Amino acid sequence: METVLSGIRPTGNLHLGNYFGALKNFIKMQNEYNCYFFIADYHSLTTHPNPENLQNNVRQILIEYLAAGLDPEKCTLYIQSDVPEVIELYLFLNMNAYIGELERCASFKDKIRKNPQNINAGLLTYPTLMAADILLHKATKVPVGKDQEQHLEMTRTFANRFNRIYGVDYFVEPQAFNFGENLVKIPGLNGSGKMGKSEGEGNAIYLADKPDMIRKKVMKAVTDSGPTIENQEKPEVIKNLFQLMSVVSTPDTVQYFDEQYNKCAIRYGDMKKQLAEDMIKFVSPFTERIEELKADNEYLEKVVKIGAEKARESARKTIKEVREIIGFKSSL
Ligand code: TRP
Repeated sequence: METVLSGIRPTGNLHLGNYFGALKNFIKMQNEYNCYFFIADYHSLTTHPNPENLQNNVRQILIEYLAAGLDPEKCTLYIQSDVPEVIELYLFLNMNAYIGELERCASFKDKIRKNPQNINAGLLTYPTLMAADILLHKATKVPVGKDQEQHLEMTRTFANRFNRIYGVDYFVEPQAFNFGENLVKIPGLNGSGKMGKSEGEGNAIYLADKPDMIRKKVMKAVTDSGPTIENQEKPEVIKNLFQLMSVVSTPDTVQYFDEQYNKCAIRYGDMKKQLAEDMIKFVSPFTERIEELKADNEYLEKVVKIGAEKARESARKTIKEVREIIGFKSSL
């Protein structure tokens, strides 16, 4: 069975874009693959969160992953920092990662441009830590967005380089896992093409959003002044609204508003009201489950412990083998 791995930085709550973009697929994949899903808290240190934020964010993502349907009995769900073996592999990979290639990495260049006051070594070696995450479990499939493809390419480079330097055929090249048509792009509410927390306040609907919050955000969604010619093509912002509706509302509802639009009789206020109520219906089971999990520390601790044990078992095996390949023998 193929091994799939994905990490998420704990930097905020999950929104519908995360859900339809990847999470929904993860929930299916856990039945079909040997899956590792982890919370990349070491990675999040590049931006220096304070201890309280770090802890809260890790806990929140864990809760939301569980609420969305990840099943710790089916997959290995763990917190990166519970598996310190990854740091050792990170160190080994760093020894053969060249400053030049790390500096040329697009995400590094982007980050130093945006935050010139925080160009730290962790940022530079972000791709080696990510490679360590992947190679630690010999994952062969990694679901990644466009922004992470270069990191995956670098992982392949590091894996091949390791094999070449030590004359082994040890690490396998991980490939991007493509969701294909199962990848549903979720637009934002403020006219931006993508739902995301960096797109500004009110742009995203979160799995933890309460009904009033959802109503407020949806009613503020950007629209235009309405169609004037029958059957005219919809502008981007209106397409976005319909796209959002198509993931939470029934086909009949979508069709009704589509017809209204084509007849130039659409009232965006009505459409938004309907969208808000359908979104609430969609999100509320998640919200409820999130609240239940928040109150169940005992269960959360159990999940974390089981995840760490399973992940460490695989990690220890890799580290033991890698140490031997490099020349750290258990006896002199
Ligand atoms: N860099 C990824 C992101 O920002 C998170 C991540 C860390 C990851 N390690 C990984 C993703 C390993 C896939 C595999 O989204």
